[in-house]
Amino acid sequence: MGKIISLVNQKGGVGKTTTSINLSASLAVLGKKVLLIDLDPQGNTTTGVGINKGEIERSIYNVLIGECKITEATIKTKYKDFYIVPSSINMAGLGTELLEKSRSEAGFNYSEQLKNSLVDIKDTFDFIIIDCPPSLDFIITNALVASNSVIIPVQCEFFALEGITQLLRTIMLAQKSLNPTLDIEGVLLTMYDARTNLGLEVVEDIRKFFKEKVYNTIIPRLVRLTEAPSHGEPIIAYDPKSRGSEAYLNLAKEVIERNGK
Ligand SMILES: Nc1ncnc2c1ncn2[C@@H]1O[C@H](COP(=O)(O)OP(=O)(O)O)[C@@H](O)[C@H]1O
Ligand SMILES: [Mg+2]
Repeated sequence: MGKIISLVNQKGGVGKTTTSINLSASLAVLGKKVLLIDLDPQGNTTTGVGINKGEIERSIYNVLIGECKITEATIKTKYKDFYIVPSSINMAGLGTELLEKSRSEAGFNYSEQLKNSLVDIKDTFDFIIIDCPPSLDFIITNALVASNSVIIPVQCEFFALEGITQLLRTIMLAQKSLNPTLDIEGVLLTMYDARTNLGLEVVEDIRKFFKEKVYNTIIPRLVRLTEAPSHGEPIIAYDPKSRGSEAYLNLAKEVIERNGK
């Protein structure tokens, strides 16, 4: 059974994209077959795995609007067992288009588009990782309806828990009305800076709040992790021996373990 995991947090800059790229690449290195789906109109995940946005013929936009199957938008990355469905800038206008469609076409449910597109392929992958944009709109609804679980990246900073109540409410609403089996897979602490005491306090606060949901692995703040995407490479390819590689490999191992895979 393929496991579908979304990276969600309506806050921007908490490490969703960085984690989606590097967790996916690490899972693939550990022998899992992985599909990464980029739902963010900005497409940073897409370029971060070495795909030139100018050369994309079909993106997740075409899939969600119903113009093609997800297999037709899937691209193999340079890396073994690692595939991606790229994003494109027209994702930004998708909401209005989907709303129109659901008004004019009977039986068209805009929040189930992603889920439906995955039905045929989900068991051909071990993991499907979905990178979400920083919002709580219909794109997130599509992701929450399609997913088995969510990983919430939380940046180790003073206002780390700000907005979390709202995010948890969105997840609970999705569980109630759309996807009763949706689970919180885990909470990931990102951009930890050992040079400040603040980081440690935040780690304690978040562990108190989310308890055993918090991964043991903490992603440190590292310049190498910001450099890698500009070379179109996951950290494990860009600098395999780095601390960033080690951290994301450890996270991937924890994810595999929690899923008994
Ligand atoms: N562990 C890290 N150490 C240093 N910089 C990071 C780390 N994780 C992410 N960044 C940088 O922080 C910024 C926001 O990260 P990103 O993954 O794009 O967050 P999000 O997708 O949640 O908006 C990016 O410039 C990214 O390169
Ligand atoms: Mg992002």
